[in-house]
Amino acid sequence: MNHATRPRRSVLFVPASNERAIAKLASLECDAVIFDLEDAVAPEAKADARENLRGFFAARGEGGPECVIRINPLASEWGTEDLLAARACKPDAVLLPKVNSPRDVHDIDDMLDETDAPASMRLWIMIETAKAMLNIGPLAEFGRDGAARLDCFVAGTNDLVKETGILSTPDRRYLAPWLMQMVLAARAGGLDVLDGVSNDFRDLDRFAGECADGAAMGFDGKTLIHPAQIDPANRAFSPSEAVLAEAKAIVAAFALPENARKGVIARDGQMIERLHLAQAERLLARAGRALRKG
Ligand code: COA
Ligand code: MG
Repeated sequence: MNHATRPRRSVLFVPASNERAIAKLASLECDAVIFDLEDAVAPEAKADARENLRGFFAARGEGGPECVIRINPLASEWGTEDLLAARACKPDAVLLPKVNSPRDVHDIDDMLDETDAPASMRLWIMIETAKAMLNIGPLAEFGRDGAARLDCFVAGTNDLVKETGILSTPDRRYLAPWLMQMVLAARAGGLDVLDGVSNDFRDLDRFAGECADGAAMGFDGKTLIHPAQIDPANRAFSPSEAVLAEAKAIVAAFALPENARKGVIARDGQMIERLHLAQAERLLARAGRALRKG
């Protein structure tokens, strides 16, 4: 599937060691699931967690959410085994944590190629270290490299707070510059970019506010830790009726025979260029897929 039009509004983390949570997935309406083998799984539970994933993916049918596996860093004691187990599961993507530099992306791309992983198996990376922030531009360039698998950045806000020592505030004021930098880089590279998790899963009003904030910053969706966060995220990252109507009007305006050869037209006192047409078409394609998911 063309990732550019696949909705990634609600992306739920599930500890791969939690069989009850995995069983719950069939009833959930999230756009994507990230099965975690890293921080949400205790060292002594890693082997069982991989076994759970084998079971889940062996029984996985057509359709359903996009399925991603977060492995441990390749340099860790679990990394290689995780990567091989993930590869065998045939997920839609592998998510690599603690990425620091382009070298990390090259290394995992090479390892996936060496295991003959199909090109359709994509790579997502966590942006959660100070070094990744400093290398964000070069990391995003993989998005323009047809041979590379990278197609999504995931903001790792808990780790960024921990590593840098910034104060975590409800309005995320000290994180905001880095979040915006991730969005900017993702756009430069043609990548998707997902906002970080909100740890407080009981206060859904606050959560809805954080989703609205993430959508306003330009994120494509939000990573989640609890099923109760799915609906608010789907709502916040879906275009409003007004935005959809505007997009349809732009497509219709450029479809008129008299506008076929025009690069710029006027509509209701507003200048519309072909870049707005491309933007409108992408928005409608993505919204259409989200609707068909039901
Ligand atoms: N995915 C799927 N199902 C989940 C879930 C998740 N992330 N989190 C909770 N559930 C399920 C529970 O299993 C429970 O199911 P049940 O109705 O069959 O009993 C139901 O949702 C209600 O859960 P609740 O009791 O409210 O939460 P909890 O105390 O069981 O779990 C957390 C709370 C935070 C431990 C849990 O949500 C979690 O592990 N989240 C993911 C953490 C993670 O992956 N972190 C790494 C990335 S930041
Ligand atoms: Mg992390």
